[in-house]
Amino acid sequence: MTLTPQWLDELRARTSLSTLIGRTIKVTKAGREYKACCPFHNEKTPSFTINDEKGFYHCFGCGAHGDAIRWMTDQRGLPFMEAVKELAQAAGMDVPAADPRAARRAEAAKGLHDAMAAAQSFFEEQLGGIDGGDARAYLQKRGISDATRRAFGFGFSPDSRGRLKTALKDFGEPMLVEAGLLIDPDGAEPDGGNARKRDSYDRFRGRLMLPIRDIRGRVIAFGGRIIGAGEPKYLNSPDTPLFDKGRTLYNIDRASPASRSTGRVVVVEGYMDVIALAQAGFSDAVAPLGTALTEHQIERLWKMVEVPILCFDGDTAGQKAAIRAATRALPLLRPGHSLAFATLPTGQDPDDLIRASGAQAMDAVLGSAEPLIERLWRHEMAAAPLDTPEQKAALKQRLRAVTDAIQHPDVRAHYAHAFRERYDALFFARREAAPFQPRTPSGSGSRWQRDKRGNWKPPIPPVGTEARAIGVSGMEQRLLRAILAALLRHPEQIASHREMLSALQIGDPLLAQLLAAMISASFRKETVETQALLTILGQGELYNMAKGMLRADAFTLTPDRMTTDPDRLARDLEEAVRVMAQGPELEAALEEATRRFKDDVSEENLAEQQRVRALKADHDRRLAELAQSEDIV
Ligand code: UTP
Ligand code: MN
Repeated sequence: MTLTPQWLDELRARTSLSTLIGRTIKVTKAGREYKACCPFHNEKTPSFTINDEKGFYHCFGCGAHGDAIRWMTDQRGLPFMEAVKELAQAAGMDVPAADPRAARRAEAAKGLHDAMAAAQSFFEEQLGGIDGGDARAYLQKRGISDATRRAFGFGFSPDSRGRLKTALKDFGEPMLVEAGLLIDPDGAEPDGGNARKRDSYDRFRGRLMLPIRDIRGRVIAFGGRIIGAGEPKYLNSPDTPLFDKGRTLYNIDRASPASRSTGRVVVVEGYMDVIALAQAGFSDAVAPLGTALTEHQIERLWKMVEVPILCFDGDTAGQKAAIRAATRALPLLRPGHSLAFATLPTGQDPDDLIRASGAQAMDAVLGSAEPLIERLWRHEMAAAPLDTPEQKAALKQRLRAVTDAIQHPDVRAHYAHAFRERYDALFFARREAAPFQPRTPSGSGSRWQRDKRGNWKPPIPPVGTEARAIGVSGMEQRLLRAILAALLRHPEQIASHREMLSALQIGDPLLAQLLAAMISASFRKETVETQALLTILGQGELYNMAKGMLRADAFTLTPDRMTTDPDRLARDLEEAVRVMAQGPELEAALEEATRRFKDDVSEENLAEQQRVRALKADHDRRLAELAQSEDIV
């Protein structure tokens, strides 16, 4: 279909821009122009002007500028052709059709659209009528206001096989069947001409009806919820010429313009979640229609914002869905475009959460959304144990597979780099300056050397390689838990001690996992808060352990646990982590020095062994002090 510039000019000329814009926002006349508060940015005094003569709008605040078509694409979020079609319809112009087949399809679709619109009116009428009493009561029980009910076009399908069929009979049975409004029992198996024709009947019976609209706000399908309990809970329209489930997002017609001002799109699981969110002031939510997010839907979301937030239940099913969406997005990633993941408390959908804890709780969940890379890293870290060298290497392999799924070379390169950095930080982090310098005879310890008797000796292993894991003694356990608890309470401290923390070789796998998760959270740009950190930990053992540590009677690092002085806290943490890390190192060093002394009984080696022993004794004393000073109730 080609649109000539002349035709487009005609379209613009026949469109009153101020009327068009006035349908969405409040405009007031000011001289020859119109003024409004700009819908493209937040403002209280109007700097948005509309000039009908020129057919342009312009915002002196943010520079937004365009004509009627631009308004439809930028503010309403319509694709170009859809924008043109809608303006043409309003202006009474025919969009030139490229070929007769397309024209015929358009004609057929028009009939279907009319049928769907008629069905919508019918359902809405029924909800207001005598038969709609139960449905109205149900809406009220769910706390859905009249305004919300109207905005989302709630309706009711009477419990009858033929009420809709009769009300819409003028459209003809075949069209109503094609629109998915009637079920034709013979439709699936076209008879050979001999089977007796059975009657078609209303698909939706005794259900609360929710219209599903396309981006232009036209009803293209319905979802019908059972009133009260029963199966199936939701009955949806089948795919029709108007409705392709995998390409549709519920509420896109309202969320798309809303996302222009919020700069955000939230994807939730269900119809009622979208509606509860809208009622609580989050007007930028959409939902797929009972299926996993498709490539089409991801692309559609990316037309609204670069990083849509997918909001999933914290339970296993929800987190599986999150990973499925993440995996599906990988091949599609391109510069700027990604996904973020917000995790809901287990077993609560947004509707439940808002009801139980209010809009603030929802805000907090959305605010703690993790970037895609974070979610993937966390998933791969948790996918299998990481205790043995083989298991650690397997993590690398899994991360490689994730990276390989990314098609865009630059995005892939950055993922590869980021994963490598994290992986190395986790397993190969360089240790902080050692607490002492083992004196190696004549320089480097990395070469084979002769001892005094002229025998060759192997190079001295770098400090720490043989070190045991932390947390063996009760004292160490205690200090380690105190450190983790302090970091949980003050997550902003993680980043500044990250290097030392990453180097800790923790024996207890759960404590190790907890620390690893905290370190990985600290790579995010924004400061992580305790609540967000807990959300990231999910709902399993880690979460429970973290919760336990946060209880008032658990260990704290500073004797004065109310300390709010960040410098004090940073110093205390610094020392505690250093002491923690030094234990195994000093032990290994002492072993080594002792072995060397026994191999070669010299005064020099004895002195060295004594020096390390003294350091170790100092360390043990300090460890004991620190571990005791935790006010354990
Ligand atoms: P849920 O079962 O989570 O329902 O299904 P919900 O959104 O919380 O609904 P309420 O609060 O009980 O009313 C999530 C989504 O999965 C699809 C629907 O799109 C629903 O919104 N679904 C669910 C179906 O299509 N059919 C079903 O039988 C159930
Ligand atoms: Mn629900």
